Amino acid sequence: MESTWFFLVYACCMAASCLTTAAQTNISTDQSALLALKAHITSDPHNLIFTNWSTNTPVCNWVGVTCGARHLRATALNLSYFGLQGSIPPQLGNLSFLVDIDLRNNSFQGPLPPELARLRRLKFISFGFNKFMGIIPTWFGSLSKLQTLSLYGNKFSGSLPKAIFNLSALEVISLSYNQLSGTN
Ligand SMILES: *[C@@H]1O[C@H](CO)[C@@H](O)[C@H](O)[C@H]1NC(C)=O
Ligand SMILES: *[C@@H]1O[C@H](CO)[C@@H](O)[C@H](O)[C@H]1NC(C)=O
Ligand SMILES: *[C@@H]1O[C@H](CO)[C@@H](O)[C@H](O)[C@H]1NC(C)=O
Ligand SMILES: *[C@@H]1O[C@H](CO)[C@@H](O)[C@H](O)[C@H]1NC(C)=O
Ligand SMILES: *[C@@H]1O[C@H](CO)[C@@H](O)[C@H](O)[C@H]1NC(C)=O
Ligand SMILES: *[C@@H]1O[C@H](CO)[C@@H](O)[C@H](O)[C@H]1NC(C)=O
Repeated sequence: MESTWFFLVYACCMAASCLTTAAQTNISTDQSALLALKAHITSDPHNLIFTNWSTNTPVCNWVGVTCGARHLRATALNLSYFGLQGSIPPQLGNLSFLVDIDLRNNSFQGPLPPELARLRRLKFISFGFNKFMGIIPTWFGSLSKLQTLSLYGNKFSGSLPKAIFNLSALEVISLSYNQLSGTN
């Protein structure tokens, strides 16, 4: 009997510590995610991030990065009008405190990695005026806090996923200048 209890308590503690380990991310996680993004940028004509995003300076001082006062984690990424070319790496899905992402008016290309679905705190997304392609991902519909979704001026194709109409916080959705077909 006693040994059963011991085993149960032990098993619970192990499970709890596993959960804690899995959830343990810190600003270094944000740094690796942003360095992965930097590594996927092929052109930075105004040299805004190539020298500024240096491991010699704290991530929260990097241009375009804003950290929250409470957790000191990246809460906003604003690279709008930087003139960047490149693509979005899956590691960007590790910026788990991100609330705003504004990449408008760059030349990011390729599809959006499904790992971005992990950004559960997102309220504001602007990918407007880039060269993103592929179908509009259904996982946008699982970002329950989303208020603004701007995808205008890209090469998205297909139709708007139905799940997007389930987003109760959504106020602004802008899809013009893509290659969409009817909703489905
Ligand atoms: C972040 O977490 C990793 C692994 O848990 C640890 O090695 C590192 O020292 C931590 N970094 C900071 C800045 O707290
Ligand atoms: C990076 O840019 C930020 C914002 O413009 C600036 O405050 C900081 O001094 C720059 N850091 C470096 C190392 O250039
Ligand atoms: C990003 O920066 C641009 C230009 O500085 C600004 O107009 C825009 O409102 C910012 N986006 C967000 C989400 O704060
Ligand atoms: C971040 O994301 C990548 C790819 O999605 C993953 O392989 C990596 O282990 C993640 N975690 C951290 C802490 O960087
Ligand atoms: C943003 O990009 C669009 C399309 O390339 C362009 O028409 C517009 O002038 C750009 N806006 C700014 C402020 O650069
Ligand atoms: C939308 O929400 C309703 C009610 O919660 C649910 O039954 C339905 O499956 C959802 N639809 C999609 C496409 O997520």
